[in-house]
Amino acid sequence: MGKYIIQGGKTLSGVLPVSGAKNATLPILACTLIAEGTYFLNNVPALKDVEVMIKLLEHFGLKIEKIAQNSYKIINNGLQTLEAPYELVSIMRASFLVMGPLLAHRGEARVSMPGGCAIGNRPIDIHLKGFEQLGATIKTEHGFISAKAKNLIGKEIYLDFPTVTGTENLIMAAVLSKGITILNNAAREPEVEDLGNFLNKMGAKITGLGTDRIIIEGVEKLFPCEYNIIPDRIEAGTFLILSALTGGNIVIKGVNMEHLTSFKTKLEEIGINFKINGDEVQVQADLNNFKPTNIITLPYPGFPTDLQAQTIVLLAMIKGNSEMKETIFENRFRHVPELNRMGANIKIEGNVASINGPTNFQGAEVEATDLRAGACLVIAGLISSNTTILNNIEHIERGYENLVERLQAIGAEIKKSE
Ligand code: EPU
Repeated sequence: MGKYIIQGGKTLSGVLPVSGAKNATLPILACTLIAEGTYFLNNVPALKDVEVMIKLLEHFGLKIEKIAQNSYKIINNGLQTLEAPYELVSIMRASFLVMGPLLAHRGEARVSMPGGCAIGNRPIDIHLKGFEQLGATIKTEHGFISAKAKNLIGKEIYLDFPTVTGTENLIMAAVLSKGITILNNAAREPEVEDLGNFLNKMGAKITGLGTDRIIIEGVEKLFPCEYNIIPDRIEAGTFLILSALTGGNIVIKGVNMEHLTSFKTKLEEIGINFKINGDEVQVQADLNNFKPTNIITLPYPGFPTDLQAQTIVLLAMIKGNSEMKETIFENRFRHVPELNRMGANIKIEGNVASINGPTNFQGAEVEATDLRAGACLVIAGLISSNTTILNNIEHIERGYENLVERLQAIGAEIKKSE
């Protein structure tokens, strides 16, 4: 188990590039199971989660070659199995994204049931109900979920919640079905849109992407293509918070601010301004003039749950009381006790964190309990008065590419140790 050792309080300046979006890459990689041929994917982030998805694709028989730092050639010459094993699904829930493409392409799939998760129970009932509505028969046995369908038939579906991977799985299942599928109350996240754009490039007929009503007209055949993944909005948001708390001398490069509208507006409310120049963003921030605020996490275009933890560090630095209400996941405040160990004064009642600032963050030994909790503790460590030892950094490496090297390049004192 690795750890980061962070010496806080350094001045940070320079260019911090943003990687490709993890949560767009995972469904797009899974989607290469849907049609035979050769794919080229660019702007793929070098992450543990991406490695797991690649292993899963190799398990199905695909040949994957890294042809440049962030580019892959993926050859699908036919699938050797239709079963996703426990070893790979249990370490990454997003492995369940193979269900939709397998069902679409081969009419059959057996995927190990995703287990528990650090941020909540995370059921997959909406995925399964949708597959059934498209005509699949679902069975759960021996820890596996089996789905079978001779022919998937388009249907108008209402999702009980706009689940991100659920919407993606149902789009992938529906693209080769007979007739028209309409997904009402669909997820509007940019990552869902990116998957849809990828599929449209393959010959799918999907409209309404980015809205809550996605219409999929089934086609006979799909063709592999070359595709560039969108930049990671959550990574960009993480870096923007870091910059706001360290004087704003960082130029964050490769940002699509259109994907961060709610985040930008809330930060502006706090008193942070943004200088946007193409895909480069710099914040203009004076910590002494920040005002407290209340934030609620919501499905896109609402405030992203994946930036909740990092934003709590920002709120903790502001004089006065702020509130953060988490409505997406039931157990996503595990970073709060860690931040309190570093000097914050945050109380949790139900799904609301009341943050009483300002905080004089002090280095301490803390633990990353999930990916975004880990990112928030890196930020807290970098603005702390002395040394922070951050354990369980495996979580962070699932979602932030070469974080240590990139932070070192802008002057941060952070190193990895075993
Ligand atoms: N839900 C159900 N039933 C379902 C599906 C979801 O009740 O069938 C509930 C979940 O339990 C949760 C809520 O709906 O309370 C939202 O879950 P959603 O399905 O939207 O999340 P996800 O698709 O499992 C993706 C991202 C997460 C991100 C969420 C929310 C990927 C691979 N993962 O998860 O990313 O937090 O959407 O935006 O796209 C991360 O990157 O750190 C991360 C956790």
